[in-house]
Amino acid sequence: AVAGRAVAAAMSVFVTRRIPAEGLRVLSQASGYRVQQWDSEEPVPRAELLAGVAGTHGLLCLLSDRIDCEVLDAAGPGLKVISTLSVGFDHLALDEIKKRGIRVGYTPDVLTDATAELSVALLLSACRRLPEAAEQVKSGGWTTWKPLWMCGYGLSDSTVGIIGLGRIGQAVARRLKPFGVRKFLYTGSAPKPESAAEFGAEFVPLTRLAEESDFVVVTCALTPATQGMCNKDFFGRMKKTSVFVNTSRGAVVNQEDLYDALAHGQIAAAGLDVTTPEPLPTDHPLLSLKNCVILPHIGSATYATRSTMAVLAANNLLAGLRGEPMPHELKL
Ligand code: NDP
Ligand code: DGY
Repeated sequence: AVAGRAVAAAMSVFVTRRIPAEGLRVLSQASGYRVQQWDSEEPVPRAELLAGVAGTHGLLCLLSDRIDCEVLDAAGPGLKVISTLSVGFDHLALDEIKKRGIRVGYTPDVLTDATAELSVALLLSACRRLPEAAEQVKSGGWTTWKPLWMCGYGLSDSTVGIIGLGRIGQAVARRLKPFGVRKFLYTGSAPKPESAAEFGAEFVPLTRLAEESDFVVVTCALTPATQGMCNKDFFGRMKKTSVFVNTSRGAVVNQEDLYDALAHGQIAAAGLDVTTPEPLPTDHPLLSLKNCVILPHIGSATYATRSTMAVLAANNLLAGLRGEPMPHELKL
């Protein structure tokens, strides 16, 4: 599945997946680059990745590619730029990348709206039980209008806690505010008074956010500090009527603890766009729960957003290879 374009090239580029055509076009129209691609919808097998990067100068990768020492060694000293088709960069061994003087491009901002929109959709799906209710229509469970049937929780007059009031966290808050949210809380490594002012959001410790929020939305980056942060203690502090939503990375959540909290009515419901692992095995216990809505990591999945991400990732790569400022370079 490796497609190549044979040109007399000064530099070579390896693209680890089939990406939107607009992005590939940017690369193939740039003169002086030999572009090789793992031209498949499925991830590049590790051995093909290691072979594909050998001697390459630029690597355009996905969040599903673990770019570690092994890959960097396989690429060799010629590797100058890694451009990831994502804003998240927890799949990149940044310390090692920095040590080797490799520049990194990523795709912030262009996916913020799409991901915030999906976060809101997921929150509403979970709190108003949309998949469960739709299933009742198909299965004949809908026998009549019943006052006590299929009730959930609404946003009006609620408290929403945002874990990580970054680009996406703020965009989520902006979208939720008109639903009548009474109070926003947030956590992070430090208060952000300027960003928080728009929502009157209060910076609180994680424990207080868990205890007081009717809805918790996780939009932080995955780091050593956030890994497993939503655990037994966290869910134990949440209200029985609260809804948990995660659109950041699966590893921020201890999934066994989340399962227990959902199964034992410790919290009301959850919506997850990200899991550990991805894909989640179809026999995973979380999938047996009615009060857990799980999506296959589609936060940024609008046609326009993915196309824009691909063009940005391609332009990041080319700018890096030319030694120019990248449209979006990760500061290492
Ligand atoms: P930002 O860098 O703008 O925001 C990340 C936020 O994480 C920051 O506000 C940061 O807060 C916060 N954070 C860092 N450490 C902690 C901590 N210990 N506790 C709480 N918050 C913390 O990134 P984006 O908003 O653009 O993206 C956020 C993440 O969303 C990405 O890293 C990615 O993993 C995920 N994502 C998922 C998508 C999907 O398809 N589901 C799509 C796009 C992104 P502070 O500044 O205070 O450190
Ligand atoms: C990201 O960009 O980090 C998302 O997870 C996918 O768009």
